[in-house]
Amino acid sequence: MIKRIGLLTSGGDCQALNATMRGVVKALSNAVEDLEVYGFDDGYKGLIYGKYHMLTAKDFSGILTRGGTILGTSRQPFKLMRVPDEKGLDKVEAMKQTYYKLCLDCLVILGGNGTQKTANLLREEGLNIIHLPKTIDNDIYGTDMTFGFQSAVNIATNAIDCIHTTATSHGRVFIVEIMGHKVGSLTLHAGIAGGADIILIPEIPYDIKKVCAAIEKRNKAGKRFTILAVAEGAISKEDAELPKKKYKEKLEARAKKYPSVSYEIADQINQVIGSEVRVTVPGHIQRGGEPCPYDRVLSTRIGAGAAEAILDEDYGIMIGVINGKIKRVPLAECAGKLKMVSPKDQIVKAAKQIGISFGD
Ligand code: F6P
Repeated sequence: MIKRIGLLTSGGDCQALNATMRGVVKALSNAVEDLEVYGFDDGYKGLIYGKYHMLTAKDFSGILTRGGTILGTSRQPFKLMRVPDEKGLDKVEAMKQTYYKLCLDCLVILGGNGTQKTANLLREEGLNIIHLPKTIDNDIYGTDMTFGFQSAVNIATNAIDCIHTTATSHGRVFIVEIMGHKVGSLTLHAGIAGGADIILIPEIPYDIKKVCAAIEKRNKAGKRFTILAVAEGAISKEDAELPKKKYKEKLEARAKKYPSVSYEIADQINQVIGSEVRVTVPGHIQRGGEPCPYDRVLSTRIGAGAAEAILDEDYGIMIGVINGKIKRVPLAECAGKLKMVSPKDQIVKAAKQIGISFGD
């Protein structure tokens, strides 16, 4: 029996994309005699414009620890998928044609939320789709964990650890800005793991007066420094109440003055307390380098889970992990939904119990 599968990685890269594809292909080649694997270049672009190449088992050897993606990736916004390209090409039709031309049994798509929405669209268009949840944000609904997240937590935690020594030596206030525009999971986990004193995330809007009060409380207690873990998408209470359009305008105005929210917060703290505040932004370093052992194991399990679903010809699903078990989650149920931190989550409560301020 010949199995023909397509693989593509889309959206922001992260650690363990290669490890996951390796898991899928290794598990399939051990179960199927004739396996044909087509890798699409640079995410959905490759599927739209018919840019692909055949891969062999050799291509998946030695990539367990390699970061990035051997296929390349790109961001192709979901909202533009139904909009023809500059030459008038119907992207959805083009993707379907590539799929049918190659007589694929299924397409395995690795990506985050936006990628998943397009994967679901292709499912609705009749293609056999399996989505594998990647992102350092861990914000995909229907899975407890995404691959990439734990590796990024390690890096962001390490950044806070490194800042700790300098903050202690100089007696300064430091902000470490952590990735996550809409969801603060990465900031929350790295903040706790790195011993941050204040954690600001999009789901819990902050009051700058409370943030300053938390710093002053530490000063009064004789602590020489304060570390804030701030998510890219941290938002003040005041801004959270603005209508979407007004907030967008405010962000545009802020961008002219500050590179990001952390610099605005640093300025505000400086004005209220007079403390010297430094900002560190690890940025894309958080998505780079090799996957941590946790992610290598998760990816291997997710990859093997995908192979099993392909053998069962069970499509239109995401391979997630729920309560420690690999689960097939219908795309129709999870696509288009974000998994956010709830201010009521146990982890937030625990952080508050040990004295971490969320500025709320
Ligand atoms: O979704 C992953 C992510 O790294 C976010 O945490 C971050 O906000 C965004 O991507 C950055 O995107 P880009 O790589 O396009 O700048």
